[in-house]
Amino acid sequence: MKKVVILGSTGSIGKNALEVLRNLEGFELVGIYGGRNRELLLKQAEEWGVEYIGLVDEKEAGKLRWRRVLSGIEGACELASLPGVDVVVLALVGSCAVYPLLSALKSGKRVAMANKEAVVAYGPVIEKEKFSGEIIPVDSEHSSLFQCIKGREKEVERIYLTASGGPFRERESLEGITVEEALRHPTWSMGKKITIDSATLMNKGLEVIEATFLFGFPVERIKVVIHPQSIIHGMVELKDGSFLAHLSWPDMKLPIQYALTYPERRNAPVKPFNPVEAGKLTFEEPDMERFPLLSLAYRAGKEKGTFPAVLNAANEEAVKLFLEEKLSFTGIFRVVERVVELHKVIENPSFEDIEEAERWAREEVKRCT
Ligand SMILES: NC(=O)c1ccc[n+]([C@@H]2O[C@H](COP(=O)([O-])OP(=O)(O)OC[C@H]3O[C@@H](n4cnc5c(N)ncnc54)[C@H](OP(=O)(O)O)[C@@H]3O)[C@@H](O)[C@H]2O)c1
Repeated sequence: MKKVVILGSTGSIGKNALEVLRNLEGFELVGIYGGRNRELLLKQAEEWGVEYIGLVDEKEAGKLRWRRVLSGIEGACELASLPGVDVVVLALVGSCAVYPLLSALKSGKRVAMANKEAVVAYGPVIEKEKFSGEIIPVDSEHSSLFQCIKGREKEVERIYLTASGGPFRERESLEGITVEEALRHPTWSMGKKITIDSATLMNKGLEVIEATFLFGFPVERIKVVIHPQSIIHGMVELKDGSFLAHLSWPDMKLPIQYALTYPERRNAPVKPFNPVEAGKLTFEEPDMERFPLLSLAYRAGKEKGTFPAVLNAANEEAVKLFLEEKLSFTGIFRVVERVVELHKVIENPSFEDIEEAERWAREEVKRCT
């Protein structure tokens, strides 16, 4: 029996992971962790009868009554490195997920990695260390690429990340966009932060950087194509010009399950795919001028050092402000570009350099809004 913990069980990926586990034999859920949604966490704990529960928000965690209660990001680290646990589903939002990520990797766990911000920001230090644990990507594009690349690493010339283009692909002006409009994603149902990132195309930018760290490809060999139907999630171009692609309905249960069972494949609780029903598949170049965060992410992925961390932290803060209606949609672009321009990149940063760069970027967002 493989023991699993879910960090971020109260979120969109976390709930999908619970759905996957409901049908998956040979896996036992032993712990769940949320951000601050105490009510939902307790409901999940009762339904699943888990041993451990916890919340990142210490105040809310203090009100929890359960067999074993953990709190704060330290508690998440404790759960991620618990002896006997085999797989950690990491579905917290934000770069703070780096702490439980490192705890899990150092203690030899498999990390089913949905969170992207931690890999983007701390990639420069993560890629230098040797861990006994492993990361299996859950992000649908990276899961697809992982499946296409595996076993033919030397044959791959270029990798392609597909993007739906978000809700504003065909909208003329990006001025005056409301939170409600930006949260209406055309093809995926996801948490608020990633939905806004999809609308600004920052999500694709973060994924480009994530791919450089997960697969060791330079940005010059990573291409983004707009594919509004979200049926192909990732493609690879091989040396002879052949392409391999991974297709499915847009449903996160598939990559979550694959990260749990890899290298095995099992029946998954998803609607069977039908290419005829999927119909026409189209592709376009992304418009980097209208969506400048994507080109900024390419720059960050090329320069690396503390650049990706600053880009990500500034974006996290700007998106928070947008969701609180304190910043306009195009204000996200303006603020993130400004903070990045002010930053002096540190090459080859230490963990502490990245922490400090993130702190600086978050403060700087407050100063320029
Ligand atoms: N959703 C998707 O389809 C999808 C696809 C690919 C990748 N991802 C990535 O997976 C991660 C989770 O996405 P999601 O869509 O599941 O997000 P979500 O629905 O917003 O859930 C996020 C989880 O993180 C917790 N959380 C909220 N604020 C936090 C904070 N400040 N610090 C730590 N934890 C916090 C939430 O707790 P409470 O709700 O209890 O406050 C919840 O458990 C993100 O990094 C995202 O980019 C998501």
